[in-house]
Amino acid sequence: MAIELRISSPGRINLIGEHVDYNDGFVLPAAIDKCIYFKLRKNGSANRCTIKSKGFESILVVDLDHLSQGTEGWHNYVLGVLHEMGKLSNGLRGFDCTMESKVPIGSGVSSSAALECGLAFGLNELFDLGLDKWQLIKLGQRAEHNFVGTKCGIMDQFASIMGKKNHVMLLDCRSLDFEYIPIDINPYRLLLLNTNVSHKLSTGEYNVRKQQCEDGLEVVAEKFGIGKSFRNVTEKMLEDCQEELGETLFNRCSYIVQENKRVLQAVNALRKGNLVKMGLLMYDTHEGLRKKFEVSCPELDFLVDFSKTKEQVLGARMMGGGFGGCTLNIIHKSAVDSYVKEASKAYKKAFNIELSHFITLPSEGTSITKQPT
Ligand code: GLA
Repeated sequence: MAIELRISSPGRINLIGEHVDYNDGFVLPAAIDKCIYFKLRKNGSANRCTIKSKGFESILVVDLDHLSQGTEGWHNYVLGVLHEMGKLSNGLRGFDCTMESKVPIGSGVSSSAALECGLAFGLNELFDLGLDKWQLIKLGQRAEHNFVGTKCGIMDQFASIMGKKNHVMLLDCRSLDFEYIPIDINPYRLLLLNTNVSHKLSTGEYNVRKQQCEDGLEVVAEKFGIGKSFRNVTEKMLEDCQEELGETLFNRCSYIVQENKRVLQAVNALRKGNLVKMGLLMYDTHEGLRKKFEVSCPELDFLVDFSKTKEQVLGARMMGGGFGGCTLNIIHKSAVDSYVKEASKAYKKAFNIELSHFITLPSEGTSITKQPT
């Protein structure tokens, strides 16, 4: 029997810096302690692969020599990874894989990156392909672009692969330089409240936002003769071309420029242990995502507004792509239970949907969980 390789691959949170990764911005994510677990082994064939997903109770059978897009949701993440790996290496052979997800799907904690990165990382180990971490990160992103159709940034795959226990990561999405920043938020906790509204259908809106940012940037860059990067754009420039931009593009661009500033302010606040400031910045981000970037939804807004009435919550905001998924809350540990109870009751009353929740911690990135024996 061939040796079995076990991999765990985490989802991610993002403290601040939303929708700026595909706009040359700064982000502040961390891997979380909720993972997809993979068991992988070579099956001796040249090109026949089976991938079994416990959550979906279905098996995907793949011929490496005939890869094309599938129709069922999670299949394309797998197929996309295999396709992109095939472009970088000719060492891939037949394998059998089972995976079990403990990452809530469609909740804004990037179960998709956990899947892409876990599979890519595992196959790289299993077949000794020699790809480095950045190659794995980027191939995961390309899989999502080319097979899934979301023109995502680099943040999720980066966080899943590079995560480090008790650290958040400040990533400059333009240069790809990054820094681990230790984080100890005791006596507070990172609480995720899941609206249980799935953002599955939002891929189209995500790509629309990306296009709008590109269009807006083009207008500003042309008017001021600057290089096409949001890092060269100031709020003053945006005000000066408000007319050319029109309301929607102005709002999108204005959000991006402001959010980039907030991330750097948040890093300063974190370094000083100033969680109150961090919380206020999170509220500002939510306002921007809601009013200017328009990627929130009534359920997320409700939870953020609700948190504002409780002084034990320092800050809250929607997280990830938007249109559903989770809010991230910084909350005093003594208040977690009572707050969850109260919020669940109010949320159920308002939307007739059950709220779910979990506390999370910055955790290790994609790794081997048990060495083959
Ligand atoms: C999704 C994308 C990321 C990022 C976030 C929003 O999670 O995959 O690249 O753009 O949305 O910040």
